[in-house]
Formats: sequence, structure tokens, C-alpha cells
Amino acid sequence: SKQVVNGKIIGQGEIAPMIYKMIIEAPEVAENAKCGQFVNVYPESKSTLLPRPISICEVGETTITLVYGVVGEGTKEFSKLVTGDTIRISSALGNGYDVQEALVSVLVGGGIGVPPLVELAKHIPGEKIAVLGFRDEPFLVKELENLGVKVYVATDSGKVGFKGNVIELIKAEGIKGDYFYSCGPKVMLKALAAYCAEVDVPVQVSLEERMGCGYGACVGCVCKTKANTEKGFEHKKVCKDGPVFLGSEVKW
Ligand code: FES
Repeated sequence: SKQVVNGKIIGQGEIAPMIYKMIIEAPEVAENAKCGQFVNVYPESKSTLLPRPISICEVGETTITLVYGVVGEGTKEFSKLVTGDTIRISSALGNGYDVQEALVSVLVGGGIGVPPLVELAKHIPGEKIAVLGFRDEPFLVKELENLGVKVYVATDSGKVGFKGNVIELIKAEGIKGDYFYSCGPKVMLKALAAYCAEVDVPVQVSLEERMGCGYGACVGCVCKTKANTEKGFEHKKVCKDGPVFLGSEVKW
């Protein structure tokens, strides 16, 4: 099922410092892509042969949009590509979000975990609220607002929106929902899972921060989930069994 295709870049730009949005024409990938899945993107240069797993921000009829941070040689190479260039990408991988019926859904994103929430928002029924945390420069706020999502922003620096983290913002604003979805750094997901357990609301978390190779070869992505085994847990691979898990299922 792992398939690599040549996509054609039809647009790329920097939407926040070191954060890039790339739109790729790749009908074979777009056709089967679901919210919360990721693609492996292959650098050309020999020094960085490993593909980089990048979550899917939006799925068009024949295109996929990726929003990623420049964090190393591979992503730096991607950021230099321009319209008309080709890029090798895999088909959509992993299990995405399992969209639920709910009156009010709350989407919680942290930094480079915000992108998958955009495609997710398109598929969620009912009222949608997003609570987004950034270091100091928000991005993808307009994209979410254009989908009818009420967006709350928190920044560590207090430069934009609420000064503090997403959990503090949820409490300060009294934000409530019947179902939560999230993607972001592990420390945020862990705090959110604890909060959701406390208020007794289900949450799906995407643990994509943990991924290495993205295709099952490095075991760098193993996480513990609760299980009825002797040890009380079992190991799962974020890239294959995830990246999305129930917050209550993860052994934090
Ligand atoms: Fe390498 Fe999962 S990311 S095994």
C-alpha cells in the first residue's frame, strides 16, 4: 500500500517565520487522503535520504496542502522548492481522526500540530471551536475561521491573544465541548488528555511529534497504550497504529 509518486508543486510560501505552506498536485494521493493522515516527503539530496513525515493540512480534489516547519536539512530543502518543481511523496499514511457526531467539537492545536486540524474541521458536524497555542506567531487562523470555526489563540509570549497555554485558555474562557480532537507537542497532549479525563469528555490525540522515519523502520515512534496484558500496556507504533489515538488509551 506504500506508494511513492511525483507530485507537482503548484504553490509555496512562508506563512509564519520558518513555517511553510506547500500545495502539491498529486491526484493519486489526494484521492485517498483523510484528515489526520500524513505523507512521507523525500528529499533529493544524498545527505538526507530519509523521508520526512508531514501531516496533511488540506485535501483538494487533486491536490494536498502541507504546512511544515523548517527544522533540519530535509525540510530546508523542501522550503526552497518553487511552483513547477516536482517532489516525491508517499500516499497518505497512518490512521486519521475518527470524526464523531457532536453538538460542539473543540479542536486543540499546538504550533506545528495545528495544520491537520484544518482538514479535520471540514468534516466535523455541528459547532466548531479551535483553541490554538503558538510560541508567538499564529498561523492558519484565517483558514479555520473561513470554515466557520470560532478560533481562540494563546501564545507563550503573549504577543498575540491570551498569554499562556491552551489548557489555561480553555479554563479562562470556560470553553466546553462534547468531543475534543488534538495535535501538538506531547506535553500539551498529555495535559489535555488529563483535562478531558477530569471533565469526562473524549479526546482524540495525534502523536505525530514522535515520528521518525514514518514507515515502520526505526521504532523511534513506539508509544505505550493501555491493554489487558500482564504488564498492563502494549507497545504501538505511532506511524502505523497512529498517529491518532484516544487520549484515554495512551499510557502517558
Ligand atoms: Fe519509524 Fe514509526 S516512525 S518506525
